Amino acid sequence: MNKKTIAIVGATGAVGQQMKECLEERKIDCQLKLLASKRSAGKKAVFQGKEITVEELKESSFEGVDYALGATENDITKMWMPWAQKQNTIVIDNSSAYRLDNDVPLVIPEINARDIQTHKGIIANPNCATIIALVALEALHKEFKIQRMIVSTYQAVSGAGVQGIRDLENQVKDPSIPSQAFPYQIAYNLIPQIGDFDENGISKEEWKLQNESRKIWHDPNLRVNCTCVRVPILRSHSESITIECEKEIDIIKAKELLKNAKGVKFVDDPQNKKYPMPLDTSNQDLVYVGRVRLDPSDPTKHSLILFCCGDQIRKGAATNAVQILEECLKA
Ligand SMILES: NC(=O)c1ccc[n+]([C@@H]2O[C@H](COP(=O)([O-])OP(=O)(O)OC[C@H]3O[C@@H](n4cnc5c(N)ncnc54)[C@H](OP(=O)(O)O)[C@@H]3O)[C@@H](O)[C@H]2O)c1
Repeated sequence: MNKKTIAIVGATGAVGQQMKECLEERKIDCQLKLLASKRSAGKKAVFQGKEITVEELKESSFEGVDYALGATENDITKMWMPWAQKQNTIVIDNSSAYRLDNDVPLVIPEINARDIQTHKGIIANPNCATIIALVALEALHKEFKIQRMIVSTYQAVSGAGVQGIRDLENQVKDPSIPSQAFPYQIAYNLIPQIGDFDENGISKEEWKLQNESRKIWHDPNLRVNCTCVRVPILRSHSESITIECEKEIDIIKAKELLKNAKGVKFVDDPQNKKYPMPLDTSNQDLVYVGRVRLDPSDPTKHSLILFCCGDQIRKGAATNAVQILEECLKA
């Protein structure tokens, strides 16, 4: 395989820095370019034993670049995407700018790697809470056919980037330091808002779980009711999920399926206080699933409840993007 040139766009952010580590851990043999804003130009980083200087993102940045891993906010992504396309650079993007476009596959490799083949230059990484939920649910969906999900999320501050981490770290020392990434103090608090609300009181983040899950599972009829909450946790999102399925659920079978599910670690021994927790899932790639039980409010046994946690900077963003890259490199 020829050595490819790969650029990380947004290389100094929470996701961008993790992408560099994932490329290194997964031994992707490549020339690496690190791109960020003018503020970061000149910063140094080490990749595969060599020092690399962060460059300012410019129109000419994509010359000779085979793949770009995007880790910038939507407005910045929309600015540089045409520059990348002009150079025929294939982009694997983490922002939500292109996720629902018809000609952009939205991919979790454990679920729909095949969709990558339809790309026209852009492949999108789903929202982090969506990735964690769908990795946890895929085996159950295949067996029992999920029709509806009711989800509450507990999302870490690093989901709002490096500034989110700074806000929590500052405020545990001095709660009077104002938040920059959140509308309120986050230390010793939680905030039931992620993204702007629409006229019906549903936030952008809450819509992503329905719209992106429909696209990934190719099921336009899937119904999702979600409440997204920011919590004072540094890393790893957690989710409480109730699923309603077409078929009656055999709980023993459901647990067996989860034990063998791709990308999942089954941690479910409540009598011995074993269940998923964000401290345990940080800095690794598996989605932990536990607290699995039939919904006692549904006598028809078509509903099941579970709790899952996953590192949203890794599997919810950087690792998922690098897995997509690996699929592209295999082709
Ligand atoms: N954090 C997560 O858990 C997570 C999970 C899934 C998806 N995402 C998505 O991934 C993307 C990145 O998120 P993040 O959390 O990594 O954000 P972040 O920590 O705030 O990092 C943002 C990156 O964008 C760069 N940037 C800002 N303005 C720029 C400009 N004008 N030109 C070039 N680069 C610029 C920043 O560079 P400077 O350092 O130079 O400012 C930094 O490298 C977002 O779309 C986010 O929604 C994040």
